[in-house]
Order: sequence, then structure tokens, then C-alpha cells
Amino acid sequence: MRKKIVAGNWKMNKNLQEGIALAQEVNNRVKALAPQNVTVIVGTPFIHLSEVNKVADVITVSAQNCAAEASGAYTGEVSAAMVASTGCKYVILGHSERRSYYGETDEILVKKVGHALENNLEIIFCVGEVLAEREAEKHFDIVKSQLSKGLFQLSTEQFAHIVIAYEPVWAIGTGKTATSAQAEEMHKFIRKTIAEKYGETTADNTTILYGGSCNSKNADELFSQPNVDGGLIGGASLKADDFMTIITARENHQ
Ligand code: 13P
Repeated sequence: MRKKIVAGNWKMNKNLQEGIALAQEVNNRVKALAPQNVTVIVGTPFIHLSEVNKVADVITVSAQNCAAEASGAYTGEVSAAMVASTGCKYVILGHSERRSYYGETDEILVKKVGHALENNLEIIFCVGEVLAEREAEKHFDIVKSQLSKGLFQLSTEQFAHIVIAYEPVWAIGTGKTATSAQAEEMHKFIRKTIAEKYGETTADNTTILYGGSCNSKNADELFSQPNVDGGLIGGASLKADDFMTIITARENHQ
């Protein structure tokens, strides 16, 4: 059975003290809820990783990025090995904000994915189309291309460490969520695309998250879809109450 996951992506929010406090609260409330079937992840800025890890005993910590190179003269970069050395278990790669604001190409992502796997990090790999691509009905082609160019160099064994996050760019931070039917349609397509490359078993075992204005009000409806295995949550992961409602919605849909 594939894992159900609710992951927060804090993006560039919360100073260190605020981040520790939020992680501590989420951790304590998840401990009290004791979900049987949901893995809860918080994706923090790099500087939080080590400290947040210390307060995270029932939640899991993720970075939001890592460098495309292993080590060396790359001022300001943080390598996958450094991320792993904090005790962090996951890394988010290929987020649309990284692709569009920082010029992350498929080729760069192949390098990042390789370094992350070499350092035993699990990867949340983001894909998704912009509005113009959806309006031109190119969204399936775009997502297929992002999957095949960024991930399909991996062996079946390596691919077992990949979680996919479908994040339509037009839904991120806009309050405009994909309908549950739109999410399900794309998640089904992603699973089929994975099955064509790696077979049905791998496809069935791959966790596919939805991201883009997923919140405490719409999470329940999104998670009712058979191919929506959880969420990658931006804004709503910054408020413990909202994030807990989303986690509870996932837990209740087993
Ligand atoms: P919002 O939930 O704020 O729309 O962000 C989604 C996202 O980009 C998560 O990675």
C-alpha cells in the first residue's frame, strides 16, 4: 500500500524561533491525534532543519531544495549531503517557484535528484502546468515531459524513493484550487505514465500528492479521490490549526 502523506512547504516564512515553535506545536498535536495512516512532513528553510529535527519525533522533516553539485566552490549553496547530515529525511525538488524564479531546468533537476538519492534522501518531486498550458490543453504533455525528463533516468529501485506532487502553477498561492475532478484526472494520468515506464506495481506504490491552495476547507473533498494520496500544503501549513485539519481529513479517508 502506498503511503499517505500530508507535507507542509513553509517556503521562505518563519524565522528560526517561530519555525521551532510551529514545528513543536504540530509535532505535539500529531502525537495527540496519533494518526495510523498518515505521514506528516514539514518542509522548512535550510537554517531550521537541524533545530526542527530535534523537536520532531512523530513528524518528519524535509528541505525545500538542495544543490545540483556535490560540494565545492558554490557560494551560498547547500548540498544534499549537508541536508542529510542534519537528520532530515526528505527534500522537495522541482517546485515551480524554483523552476520559474531560479531557472531550474530538467537537466539541473536530474543532477539534484541524483545527489539527493546518493545521500539517502526521499524526494518530493513537483510537476505542474501553468495556466496558459492548461488553456491550450497541453497540461498532460507538460507533466509527462517533466516526469520523463526529470525522473525516468532512475532505476525502479531508485524510483521507490520518489513521491510526486502535482501542483498546477495556476493554483499555487492564488486561492484557486483545482477541482477534485481535475486533480483526480491528472493524478490518474501520472500513475498511468509511471506504469508505462516502471510497471503497475511501482505505479500503485507511488504516492501522488496534490498541491495548490489546498486548505482546511477543500482537503476533505480532494482526499476523497482515489488517486490523491495527500497534499503538499503551502500557506495553510503555516497555521497549526489549519494544518491539523488537513492532516485529520487525510486520516479520515483511509
Ligand atoms: P499554497 O498551498 O500556498 O497554494 O502553496 C502550494 C505549494 O506551492 C506547496 O508547495
